[in-house]
Amino acid sequence: MSEIEDYLVEQNWADYREDEHAVWRLLFERQQRLLKGRACSEYLDGLQGLGVAAGGIPDFRRLSDILDQATGWRIVAVPGLVPDDVFFALLARRRFPSTCFIRHRDQLDYLQEPDVFHDIYGHVPMLMNPVFADYMQAYGEGGLKALRLGHLQELARLYWYTVEFGLLATGEGLRIYGSGILSSAGESVYCLDDTRPHRLPFDLRRVMRTEYHIDRYQETYFVIHNFAELFAATRPDFAPIYREIAALSEITADAMLPGEREDAEPRIGKKEGPHLSAARV
Ligand code: PHE
Ligand code: FE
Repeated sequence: MSEIEDYLVEQNWADYREDEHAVWRLLFERQQRLLKGRACSEYLDGLQGLGVAAGGIPDFRRLSDILDQATGWRIVAVPGLVPDDVFFALLARRRFPSTCFIRHRDQLDYLQEPDVFHDIYGHVPMLMNPVFADYMQAYGEGGLKALRLGHLQELARLYWYTVEFGLLATGEGLRIYGSGILSSAGESVYCLDDTRPHRLPFDLRRVMRTEYHIDRYQETYFVIHNFAELFAATRPDFAPIYREIAALSEITADAMLPGEREDAEPRIGKKEGPHLSAARV
């Protein structure tokens, strides 16, 4: 087991330069325009509750104090991606690891690694929601278990298709809750409007079998109807489910299986340009 403390750093908020805050403002304002009527209300409420705004890169200490009051989560600063066991152990303790650096001005649309905009603007508002906050902690505990059992890949797919790229069906229509979408200008339009991707009902085993690609928009999104449903579906012991799935074939990212039906239709149904484009921003 790696030592958690070895991977934690200081954010050093006072050291951000003005041009770094300016990149935050650009990204923030662009996403605020796009996410109206696209992001789920839980996300928008979280963003507002945190007071995350256009001003500049937020100070993690200030956000953590608000988040802690709401759901007992805190943000810890990390230099980049941390080892899986450290990541899971942090989530299990209600600590969200966030990178500190912000992408460069010429990378507004494409970035392979998470940066502070993705981590804070994309992830942290959802942690203000009590049910989602519990889901993330349970995911951390489940991650430590998946590591012991040798089934990290299946569990990682669950994270990818929910926490990063999940969609939520509401009375007002389809909404975004996945952080990888919320922090991406291109994918926040594509995931709801484009005719090409599948939008399938969330099914735990189906998700765990489905491959994903980190370098393009999703070919399949999985749709939940509320966060309690997601939490309930992931509550059972995964150990027998991993064994069951190990005997089944993997499913490619773009496949639809016989008998499957779309859970939701695209909102507008217009083409949005080439399929290959920014994924993780
Ligand atoms: N129930 C899962 C297990 O037994 C843990 C888990 C909960 C995983 C929620 C992901 C999300 O491994
Ligand atoms: Fe992320």
